Amino acid sequence: MKRIGILTSGGDAPGMNAAIRAVVRKALYEGMEVYGVNYGFAGLVAGDIRKLTRRDVGDMIQRGGTFLYSARYPQFATEEGQLKGIEQLKRFGIEGLVVIGGDGSYRGAYALTKHGFPCVGIPGTIDNDIPGTDYTIGFDTSINTVLDALDRIRDTATSHVRTFVIEVMGRDAGDIALWTGVASGAEQIIIPEKGFDITEVADNIREGRERGKKHSIIVLAEGVMDGNEFAQKLDAIDNFHVRVSVLGHVQRGGSPSARDRVLASRFGAKAVDVLKDGQGGVCLGLRNEEIVVSGIIDTLDNMTHTPNMELLKLNEEISN
Ligand code: F6P
Repeated sequence: MKRIGILTSGGDAPGMNAAIRAVVRKALYEGMEVYGVNYGFAGLVAGDIRKLTRRDVGDMIQRGGTFLYSARYPQFATEEGQLKGIEQLKRFGIEGLVVIGGDGSYRGAYALTKHGFPCVGIPGTIDNDIPGTDYTIGFDTSINTVLDALDRIRDTATSHVRTFVIEVMGRDAGDIALWTGVASGAEQIIIPEKGFDITEVADNIREGRERGKKHSIIVLAEGVMDGNEFAQKLDAIDNFHVRVSVLGHVQRGGSPSARDRVLASRFGAKAVDVLKDGQGGVCLGLRNEEIVVSGIIDTLDNMTHTPNMELLKLNEEISN
């Protein structure tokens, strides 16, 4: 393979630029060329494609977001869109494609491979919810951003002896809530993977106050419910005067952490190796600190992502 393409798709994540950089630099090192597709699968269908040079990826490793832009493009699920995408890739002489994104992006990559066009998926999302990998690009940066916010909120919560509900992202997964809850010493972590009892949550706040706690921080994953709705339920039980902070898209931005930059660089270089070998329909993962290659469909259909539930138990044991 002499010419490969790359796109970023779905929600952006810090470290995507570092991964693109690694793909471009490693491909050039191997004597291959790289073309960038703007705006994910939407740009692919539209033929928004350009050659990437060594300089295009200079000064990029530290930048958040994705300089190739991203888009959510459910229309790519149609065969018509997929065939149009392949036609555009062939028009530019591109023989293989690297897709950085979440599970929707993986399905797009698999569809192209099924039509005979080799693709490799790299897990990139702050949610850390992709099967087949312990960590996704962007998760580490995101949890550090959330942690900074939680530390600040704790200051003001303590000053006013208040209860806070902090809603964090994660789509249907609780990883962001789990990791930041433990790291910030939150009193309670509520995630979609485990049910909750609102009266128990309220009892916990009261007991903490009786023991002299000056604040109560509840980290709530967005996949459970809206933060304001959760606060209303609590206030209906007792007059806690709960304050709510919805951290929102601040969690998706910012310069990637060292860990995300290194992970992205490793994934990017490996993706080039995989395409160079002519493999397609595969995705990369990090398992026990090793980069692994597995089939996209096997990964999506037969593997599940589960957060480390030991962290939840740990928090119950040490937070009060
Ligand atoms: O998948 C990343 C993510 O940030 C989720 O955590 C969140 O639910 C979603 O994207 C938000 O999507 P959008 O930016 O399209 O509103």
